[in-house]
Amino acid sequence: MCGIVSYIGPKEAYPILIKGLKRLEYRGYDSAGVAIINKGLNIYKTKGKVGDLENKILEEKKDINGNIGIAHTRWATHGEPNDVNAHPHSSGSGDLAIIHNGIIENYNSLKEELVSRGYKFESETDTEALVHLIDDIKKNEKVETAEAVRLTLNNVVGAYAIVILDKNKKNTLIAARKGSPLVVGVGEEKGEFFLASDATPIVEYTKDVVYLKDNEMAIIEDSKLIIKTIHNVSKTPFIEKLELNLDQIEKGGFSHFMIKEINEQPKSIFDSIRGRINLKDVSVEMRAIQDYEEKLKTVKRLIIIGCGTSWHAGLVGRYLFEEIAKLPVDVEYASEFRYRNPIVYPDDLVIAVSQSGETADTLAAMKLAKEKGATVFGLCNVIGSSIPRLSHAGAYTHAGPEIGVASTKAFTSQISVLVLMALAVAQIRGVISKDRMNLLLSELENIPKLVEKVLKINDQVYKIAERYKDSTNCLFLGRGINFPVALEGALKLKEISYIHAEGYPAAEMKHGPIALIDENMPVVVVAPRDNVYEKIISNICEIKARKGKIIAIVSEGDIKIKELADYVIEVPITEEILSPLLSTIPLQLLAYHIAVLRGCNVDQPRNLAKSVTVE
Ligand code: G6P
Repeated sequence: MCGIVSYIGPKEAYPILIKGLKRLEYRGYDSAGVAIINKGLNIYKTKGKVGDLENKILEEKKDINGNIGIAHTRWATHGEPNDVNAHPHSSGSGDLAIIHNGIIENYNSLKEELVSRGYKFESETDTEALVHLIDDIKKNEKVETAEAVRLTLNNVVGAYAIVILDKNKKNTLIAARKGSPLVVGVGEEKGEFFLASDATPIVEYTKDVVYLKDNEMAIIEDSKLIIKTIHNVSKTPFIEKLELNLDQIEKGGFSHFMIKEINEQPKSIFDSIRGRINLKDVSVEMRAIQDYEEKLKTVKRLIIIGCGTSWHAGLVGRYLFEEIAKLPVDVEYASEFRYRNPIVYPDDLVIAVSQSGETADTLAAMKLAKEKGATVFGLCNVIGSSIPRLSHAGAYTHAGPEIGVASTKAFTSQISVLVLMALAVAQIRGVISKDRMNLLLSELENIPKLVEKVLKINDQVYKIAERYKDSTNCLFLGRGINFPVALEGALKLKEISYIHAEGYPAAEMKHGPIALIDENMPVVVVAPRDNVYEKIISNICEIKARKGKIIAIVSEGDIKIKELADYVIEVPITEEILSPLLSTIPLQLLAYHIAVLRGCNVDQPRNLAKSVTVE
């Protein structure tokens, strides 16, 4: 978490840094800060959002001119969100400033050592230990700042993406990464460079980027970019072309990124399946699957790992792989799996699902599975991120940048690709007929059109949202493959509207949650016509009998549930295993409208961050 952006070059740094921070705010928004070198090294920082920092600088008429600067937007780990704990942090001498994304795990011992040598700590952050240590090594070893940074990093345990500014070196930026992402933008003008947590602050200035690898440093000095490892091995910068456009990361006329992204789903699903369905040969074309064909024939079990919404996609994946590929599946929270000493065999296949590709727990769980000899696939949205790089093979979701903190289009893209993977594996293992394969592939190809149709129910969902916006609790029920959809609906509502919501398998309701039901309790039931349809009608009757209010997501033309529910939202009929791709959308819209009606900041819900790079 935390977003970092830095600039050096002929332009004014401040506007570039502020604009960049706004693009990175999805990574955290507890505090914001900037350091610029002009006559001296000036650091301005404040609790709150980037907008608060801008206002403060404007009101206090601060000097923000300068061509070199670093900036940070924080998601607090060590130390509460306040002005003092905000980055950048400076060394005691005031010569150096640092921004950091990650966690320094041995900061306590480093701090004790530095304090015993007379260093005074102002903040409660782990980051401050880094800047004092750099200062200390610089003085004691009599080395240049870049070398002091390198030596410091050899003493550090933990994860970091850092950028350091030295007051006495107006032509130098020093950066390094391990475990947290960092991209270098090579500007079009001579001597112009950008550094950022992702490419979004860079894309409008240049398409040429270098993705730093773990343990690498980038030293920009006298208009040159030097890459070396923290073990002092030189590297040749590998410049890649960005495939990102500005309109992909702007709101494009929508009030929020979240609603833009909900509406993008016909395209994001289309892009995720595009080129992968071969109806002529009735097959799936996925490099990872083809390359691992022999392995997949003999795989005994699939373990899907992920966090948050990606874990929910994994739960849908379980139904898909069991149903289509006839493979036993475990679905694991990455954060639990990594600390459990799980039983993993070399003939297990692990799929790590992640939008960002940077989630710390998912990365650690993958490493563990790899150590235990499993084959590890990544299913990620962010190209070049850490998870795909750590995987043996994998697939991208191609949903495009997802900026709203609450995941929407990434979820449906993940499910779409999991369907393809399950079909491909089923075919390799010879457990699916050509007719069934043909039917499912054709139906999946048709899903983007059906999603477009579902989106037309927006106004109807808005009316339901108006009715229930003041609820304090909400229950989401589903069965079979739509149980994870209920979990996802509850997660969406609680994370952006702060209404307490719970997702439950509908039949389990009678073992507890039914006690919560009274005439004020909205219960959202995901009930398309499937093999548990009649069963879920019984569950609806149980809620009705206790005066609960029912909002039902049903298949087009449904009659029975219409008679029972207070509100019904119809979604087109499709194959049962594809139904989550449609039934999820009304739940995303419901959460969105309720949150907006309650005056919540849907794109930046409190305490959350989009990319969770700490455990
Ligand atoms: C955070 C985000 C969620 C996301 C989860 C996992 O909690 O707010 O939207 O589902 O992390 O992230 P990943 O990038 O691995 O999918």
